[in-house]
Amino acid sequence: MNLLIIGPPGAGKGTQSEMLCEKYNISQLATGDILRFNVKNETELGLQAKSYMASGKLVPDELIINMMKDEILKPVYANGFILDGFPRTIAQADALNILLEEFGKTLDKVIILKVPNEKIIERMSGRRICRSCNRTYHIIYNPPPMDGECSCGNSDIYQRDDDKEETVIKRLEVYDAQTSPLVEYYKSKGKISEINGDNDLNAVFLNIVNSIS
Ligand code: AP5
Repeated sequence: MNLLIIGPPGAGKGTQSEMLCEKYNISQLATGDILRFNVKNETELGLQAKSYMASGKLVPDELIINMMKDEILKPVYANGFILDGFPRTIAQADALNILLEEFGKTLDKVIILKVPNEKIIERMSGRRICRSCNRTYHIIYNPPPMDGECSCGNSDIYQRDDDKEETVIKRLEVYDAQTSPLVEYYKSKGKISEINGDNDLNAVFLNIVNSIS
């Protein structure tokens, strides 16, 4: 199964993607995670992407599309994937169509997660991430299970640099201007489910699963 999840920063795309991957035995393809890996390892891509990410802007389409051409072919996605964070512009969506056609794949469902902006700021300030396996937590709504330790056993759980309030506000503006037009884009193609993301995370998950089956 191949899924795409779209929503503003902090809507719960990563959280729901992790749960959907476990349920459907597919792999998460999260462009933000891949970019952060490249920034941390100071690769050429990471050096080019770093300043855009730190200021809450989108990394240029050309860099992202080239990155995805290499990524989507990896064997780990052969059984299916959930795209989290890509596409984010109409140009990226057009490029995805070409890539999918080239590799004989289709999208089975496009999930749109809707959460009001005022909730986003609260979610972002409490978000924590495991440095080892990238699992996402929230200090109140979804705390790490074992006294600050991730379920993978690692205790190095950190807060992202771009989760500062002013950067989150910028990311929300960027979403409204550049990514939200994708909702109409995919509506016109069908296979879309609009899900209220402003709900308990297990309830959100159930609604997504029901919309898929
Ligand atoms: P990216 O990493 O993709 O960030 P994002 O889209 O802004 O999304 P987030 O990861 O911030 O949020 P999320 O929706 O996954 O929410 P989460 O599940 O963590 O991108 C970062 C940057 O990389 C971009 O700004 C850009 O610069 C660059 N980039 C990436 N892809 C790109 C592309 N294609 N083109 C160009 N540039 C690109 O949840 C948030 C918090 O809320 C967590 O703490 C979670 O525990 C909690 N939570 C989740 N669900 C619930 C719930 N139902 N109730 C209560 N709390 C909840």
